[in-house]
Amino acid sequence: MTSTTTGVERELDELLGRERFAPSEGVRGRALIADGTVHAEAAQDPAAWWARQAEALDWFERWDTVLDDANPPFYRWFAGGKLNASYNCLDRHVEAGRGDRVAFHWHGEEGETRAITYAWLLEQTQRAANALEAHGVRTGDVVGIFLPMIPEVVVAMLACARIGAPHNVVFGGFSAESVKERMEFSEAKALITVDGARRKGKTAAVKRAVDAVGMPVQTTFVVRHTGVDCPMGERDVWWHEALEAAAPERAPEPLDAEHPLYILYSSGSTAKPKGILHTTGGYLTQVAWTHRHVFDLDPETDVYWCSADVGWVTGHSYIVYGPLLNGCTSVMYEGAPDYPHKGIWWELCERDGVTIFYTAPTAIRACMKWGAELPARHDLSALRLLGSVGEPINPKAWLWYWKVVGGGRCPVVDTWWQTETGGIMVTTLPGAQDAKPGSAGTPLPGIDVAVLDEDGAPVPDGRQGLLAIRRPWPGMLRTLFKDEQRYVETYFSKWPDQPGTYFVGDAARRDADGYHWVIGRVDDVINVSGHRLSTAEVESAIVAHAAVAEAAVVAQHDEDTGQAIVAFVTLAGERAGDAALEAELREHVAARIGKLARPKRIVWSADLPKTRSGKIMRRLLRDVAEGRELGDVTTLRDPAVMEELKRKVAARGDDDA
Ligand code: PRX
Repeated sequence: MTSTTTGVERELDELLGRERFAPSEGVRGRALIADGTVHAEAAQDPAAWWARQAEALDWFERWDTVLDDANPPFYRWFAGGKLNASYNCLDRHVEAGRGDRVAFHWHGEEGETRAITYAWLLEQTQRAANALEAHGVRTGDVVGIFLPMIPEVVVAMLACARIGAPHNVVFGGFSAESVKERMEFSEAKALITVDGARRKGKTAAVKRAVDAVGMPVQTTFVVRHTGVDCPMGERDVWWHEALEAAAPERAPEPLDAEHPLYILYSSGSTAKPKGILHTTGGYLTQVAWTHRHVFDLDPETDVYWCSADVGWVTGHSYIVYGPLLNGCTSVMYEGAPDYPHKGIWWELCERDGVTIFYTAPTAIRACMKWGAELPARHDLSALRLLGSVGEPINPKAWLWYWKVVGGGRCPVVDTWWQTETGGIMVTTLPGAQDAKPGSAGTPLPGIDVAVLDEDGAPVPDGRQGLLAIRRPWPGMLRTLFKDEQRYVETYFSKWPDQPGTYFVGDAARRDADGYHWVIGRVDDVINVSGHRLSTAEVESAIVAHAAVAEAAVVAQHDEDTGQAIVAFVTLAGERAGDAALEAELREHVAARIGKLARPKRIVWSADLPKTRSGKIMRRLLRDVAEGRELGDVTTLRDPAVMEELKRKVAARGDDDA
């Protein structure tokens, strides 16, 4: 195959019409699942089928009831069972003589490497569990974690799991303000953070930033990572000192299957993020099964790399819990995909002999831009399976991934799921099903997905509708932390005559083969580079700036990031909307939420389109931002507003001021 970008372009254009990609004989021959019998078996009795998969875990006590659905939508899986996540991730592998196996080949931004074994993780985790307890953390207390991609983040999570303290990990790209908010909402007892974090050759003084906003926790543990100047106050404890002082053994707490494992805040349609709560037994069952079978994993031989950040659910389920439950060897990279150079991912794939690679469409599109020459410089022949997650993948990016990275021999699994679902829900099983570029595939065994209309009736195949999940699944969220009402309202109130049907929030269609084509969100959630943000959250950050009277935020299609944020802003007072104010507002949003939430574009608007009752019509703003014909404007108080905005958007910012 040619490796020049233009040559590749030509080949991809030829492939664009090809609808299906069947697994090769080689792939099928070695696959754990090579036909449809598993789907059929699970469909007969999904709960019983999941119970069989739960046996892959080690339980201290077996469950009495597989699925307790007496009080929908508050479901309980494996009720009465007792287990411990850290025991399942670590002890049992070490006890079976696999302590020396590398759990993570860790690579630092500046080229350092660490081989993190299962035995090391187990010792560190036990010490950390003791250290947390020595500082007052008890079973049931929430512990915040705000760390970069370093092995200590895994230790921190598993130490919490060992003593049954639910962790609340905040993505390292969020601002200290966001961390504080999440610590407040979750009533965290302690926070585990870092002196500084490296990003593309620069060091951010994380602990200083955390101190500047003040954290509402009793203890702050600080991992020493960069050596950057780091003030330590009375409530601050160095992580390495606390671990050294702690005993190296701490028995895993036998926890109820429904004991909370973690809270992960995610954006919804209001400004307040939702504390998505996952519990232990069902969640671990689903992530272990899906990680094993969707990636067709052989823990003895595979080297797996999920390029996500641990701060997102993908990192929780498919960097930490899934891979460790399965006892496999992973790669963990601290840095950005373009640092120290744009070929670093492929360099590391070659170096560690990566066999399974899991990333997001936005990253694939970035790599496409950088050129097919970069992966071609490396020996990627060990690769045998590729995965995608986070947003719909456009067929061109799919084909590029398949051809340029996978050499045309690796199946691509496009995995659809959400923070709420805990694990993968819709995809193809690589040895058993054809892939169709752009479609995630079919519901996994034991998962009951439907496409419904507004009234809850299934829409005919080929027509767009709302994605729904009709039956509880083991990895599902159990509630929103301290907000049961919002849990019921958000997910189980769309179709009142079907109280157990989960409303996903995505539009989709199903084709005649039962493959699902996810179109995107139907609520006010924006997906920027696979990161989920709420329009309301960004709006409330913008209007908190003194110069702003009003703001409306919408998503615009973006070639690189999938969607991008456009903010329509009406100013207050005398200040003019100019480049300086635009930069200031972007920084303001970065400080309040994080850099990922900065609007790509700000359109100064003398007025916003409003109904006569004063409601902002975001639908029209979305049309303007994406250059579509405007929908009905007759309900607007002042239809002329739209003409003005159309003109400004079309002028691509030249005269925004
Ligand atoms: O809209 C869907 C999109 O991402 C949303 C979930 O976002 P989050 O909770 O942040 O989890 C992302 C990683 C699991 C979904 O509602 N989404 C995720 N994966 C896909 C997808 N859209 C299409 N295809 C996918 N494979």
